[in-house]
Amino acid sequence: MKGAIIASAAVTLVVGAMAWSVLRFSGGHSLRYEEMDGAAIYDRLCSQCHGPDGRAVGRAGASYRDKRQYWTEESLLDYLADPAAFQRNDSRLRGRYMPPIDGTMPRDARLRLARHVLGVMDGLEGSSR
Ligand code: HEC
Repeated sequence: MKGAIIASAAVTLVVGAMAWSVLRFSGGHSLRYEEMDGAAIYDRLCSQCHGPDGRAVGRAGASYRDKRQYWTEESLLDYLADPAAFQRNDSRLRGRYMPPIDGTMPRDARLRLARHVLGVMDGLEGSSR
């Protein structure tokens, strides 16, 4: 009897651990930043306001058109880490709310995101809207 209880508890533990690892490591929203390219991170965190192509969604975001000249990889990384602090020292930005990125995002992933955003800005250079 005792053996059966221990055995079923062990099975429950093993099945639970398997289910947890499947949930944790399978695709969709549980994908980790380490495994995502810049475009995927952008789609998850930025496109709802800035639009998939950087032209902004309604009035929620700011368009990236004609913005490339203002940003380097370094300044963009600083801005994304703490938009509110950055805005205080940059009179061009209007101090509208922009959320900081997840503080746990690894440096490599931030860099991939920043490069993707600069690429989107490059793509909008000279476009009429
Ligand atoms: C909730 C909406 C929202 C989300 C989500 C958001 N932003 Fe923004 N973003 C804004 C707003 C509003 C501004 C304008 C801020 C201002 O004028 O002070 C802005 C401004 C910017 C700018 C400056 C554009 C310029 O004028 O030079 C960049 C770059 C930027 N966002 C990148 C990002 C990135 C990258 C992400 C994803 C990690 C992101 N944003 C997520 C709303 C958002």
